[in-house]
Amino acid sequence: PKKVLIDCDPGIDDALAIAFAHGRPELELVGLTTVAGNVGLAHTTNNARCLAEFYGMDVPIAAGADRPLVREGVLADQVHGGNGLGGVVLPAAATPVVDRHAVDFLIDELAAAPGQISLLAVGPLTNIALAVRKEPRIVEWAREFVIMGGSYTRGNRTPAAEFNVLADPEAAAVVFDAGWRTTMIGLDLTAQARATADVRDRFAVLGRLESELLSPILDFYGRHPHYREHGPAVHDACAVAYALDPGLFTTVPARVDVEIHGRFTSGMTVTDFAAPAARHNAEVATVLDTERFWDRLLEAFSHVATG
Ligand code: BDR
Ligand code: CA
Repeated sequence: PKKVLIDCDPGIDDALAIAFAHGRPELELVGLTTVAGNVGLAHTTNNARCLAEFYGMDVPIAAGADRPLVREGVLADQVHGGNGLGGVVLPAAATPVVDRHAVDFLIDELAAAPGQISLLAVGPLTNIALAVRKEPRIVEWAREFVIMGGSYTRGNRTPAAEFNVLADPEAAAVVFDAGWRTTMIGLDLTAQARATADVRDRFAVLGRLESELLSPILDFYGRHPHYREHGPAVHDACAVAYALDPGLFTTVPARVDVEIHGRFTSGMTVTDFAAPAARHNAEVATVLDTERFWDRLLEAFSHVATG
């Protein structure tokens, strides 16, 4: 299987992404690292631990940065609930986090398996930026680097900026400038992955996974004004889908620069599809094969389903 390491801030769609990765035999989840984002670090880390236990996973979890590099933290608790899981309280987790900072954990994992691990970032990019600064060789060691973040049209948290980039624009700028080719799965793409009523109907066969987790968290998530009309976009799950099968995506090479100074545009991912090839630093996802995406995700969830 392909090794993946997910840096995350669970988070409702993060929870789906983790289940997706765990449920696919083609992927081997080598670790979860947590960062402050949707909610504070204590919540994101606790959620990662509880989700891992609920899904029956045996995976190391390392806690990372509790605030952005430069700015005050911003939360998305109005989207994900005060505890990050729409108020769902899972049974307490017994397994502790590993005794290492997420930044060291991810550097060590990448160093131990150069060219083998897909690094997926689905929260603010603080941990990844710190890791790039501490050990620049991770840029070569990662098999690929995929983020859920940014947009080439409009934002969600502000008109210009997507939440993960808006939350720590300086970190995002470091990451896009690091010298690897970032695959950017932004809002333009993830808007094509909405848990519509038809999709939700297909979850009905998933037992406790559906009744105790998916149903209540997606009900909560779907009540947000952004999602009421067309259904909630399961953003972070798209990054896992890319690691699983890039053939589900159309991507276009581009230059992406992160705005860190704008009064109204801070956190914008300024995407230049017309840039000369020598300046390209990203593959930007534009089109998702939505039908096959949900088939793959449903199949994964059926492997995770309990009772
Ligand atoms: C991103 O922001 C978070 O709220 C979600 O978990 C996702 O990673 C979408 O903009
Ligand atoms: Ca997230």
